[in-house]
Amino acid sequence: MAIKAVVFDAYGTLFDVQSVAGVTDAAFPGHGEAITQIWRLKQLEYTWLRALMGQYADFWTVTRDSLAYTLETLGLVATTDLVAQIAEAYDALALYPEARTALEALAPLRLAIFSNGSPAMLKRLVAQARIDGLLETVISVDEIGVYKPDPRGYAHVEARLGLARDEILFVSSNGFDIAGAKAHGFDVARIARLAPETLRSEMQSAATIGPALMFKALRMRPEQLGFEADFTIATLRELAAHLRRQP
Ligand code: LAC
Repeated sequence: MAIKAVVFDAYGTLFDVQSVAGVTDAAFPGHGEAITQIWRLKQLEYTWLRALMGQYADFWTVTRDSLAYTLETLGLVATTDLVAQIAEAYDALALYPEARTALEALAPLRLAIFSNGSPAMLKRLVAQARIDGLLETVISVDEIGVYKPDPRGYAHVEARLGLARDEILFVSSNGFDIAGAKAHGFDVARIARLAPETLRSEMQSAATIGPALMFKALRMRPEQLGFEADFTIATLRELAAHLRRQP
C-alpha cells in the first residue's frame, strides 16, 4: 500500500540532542561533554527501566532525574532548581539544519512526530523551532503511558492517524526506535548521521574512548536485534527524493 504519512522521531532525528552542550558547559565549565553524553544515555536507560518496572513517569521527570544522576556522578553540586533549569535545554534543542526544508519537500504527505517526549515538552520544542505549521499532529507516548520501543506505542500512532501500518513511513536515527518500529511492522527509514567508516576511524585513532565517542558507539549504530531499517540515508534531505523513487 502507498505511504500516506511520514512520522518522525523527535530527539536525535529532527532535533539535535547534542545541542544541550552549550547549556551544560555554561553551567559547569569543562564538564559539558561528560554531562551531555551521560545524561542522554541515562535518560533513555531510565525510560526502559521504568517500563520494565511498570513505573511510568513522564519524560520531563525522566529527563530531570537522569540529569540529577549525571551531576551527582560527576561530583557536581546543583540545586533542584538548577537541575530543572538545565533540563529545560531539552525544550530548546536545535532543529537539524536541513529539517525544515526536508519537511516542506514532503508535502502533500501527512506529517507527524511520535516521541517519548511529554506533550508539554514537545509542544515547546516544536513551537520554538517553528515547525508546528508543517506537522499535522504531535503524538506522545504519554497518551498511553508507555515508552519506545513498546509495540503499543507504534500501534497508537496508527490509531491516532487512522491509518494501516503499511501506510506509514517511520523515520528515526535512534537504533532502538528503528528496531521497535520495524518489529511492529512499519516501513522504516534510518537517518545515519555518522558513517560507519567515520566511527571506525575515530575509534582506531582515539587514544582513549571519551564520553562523546562512547555515545557514538552505543547510540549511533544500528542495533543488531534482527530488525533493520528498510533504507538508510545520511540526512533528512534525501527523504523526499527517496520516496519519489518508490513505485
Ligand atoms: C524520542 C526519543 C526516541 O524522541 O528520542 O522518542
